[in-house]
Amino acid sequence: MKGKKILDLGCGGGKDSVLFAKNGFEVVSLDFSEKAINFCKENIIRNNVQRSIHIILHDMTKPLKFDDRTFDTVYAHLSLHYFDDRTTTKIFNEIRRILKVSGLLFVNVKSTDDPLYGKGKKLEKDVFELGHIRHFFSREYLINKLKGFEILYIKQTREKTDYAKKTISKESVFWQLIGRKLDHSHIFKL
Ligand SMILES: C[S@@+](CC[C@H](N)C(=O)[O-])C[C@H]1O[C@@H](n2cnc3c(N)ncnc32)[C@H](O)[C@@H]1O
Repeated sequence: MKGKKILDLGCGGGKDSVLFAKNGFEVVSLDFSEKAINFCKENIIRNNVQRSIHIILHDMTKPLKFDDRTFDTVYAHLSLHYFDDRTTTKIFNEIRRILKVSGLLFVNVKSTDDPLYGKGKKLEKDVFELGHIRHFFSREYLINKLKGFEILYIKQTREKTDYAKKTISKESVFWQLIGRKLDHSHIFKL
């Protein structure tokens, strides 16, 4: 993996960024939360991987400040299910733009089968506000956003999560997807 560039999009505290760095990736960790970024910085120092990780404070709903075809991999773990359809589409277009041809995209997003689906105020199809905005992805919707990608893997998963650190834990339902950017994928702009 030496020299392979990976973007950890919505990196949070950076646990995955650290893992990637330890496995030889050149990592860019991006998040719009100062708190998350500070936590990520501490995590990086604690693990002594400063040389392999570049941290960026940025809101991904705005254009990403990377050249076309910069990354071998974009990794978005639980960070793409906060936006309305229009914004989601823009972000997927940006991801496609900054990936190299044959670059990989790893996505993990909330599924329409999640128990929180339909809770709170409906903002648009599959998007609800309860404390914060949640966009639930159907299989069809997710695949639709991946135009210009070959889908290598897609699976619905169930994980126990402690909602807001309350004692009752429920099972969250997610889609895990791996896509590979096709040649000439720009013609598929959403
Ligand atoms: C559930 S956390 C996941 C963090 C990390 N990927 C992980 O799996 O541990 C979602 C992350 O997405 C970030 N995020 C949400 N909206 C964002 C935006 N508009 N731009 C950048 N980051 C965003 C949040 O700040 C948060 O750190």
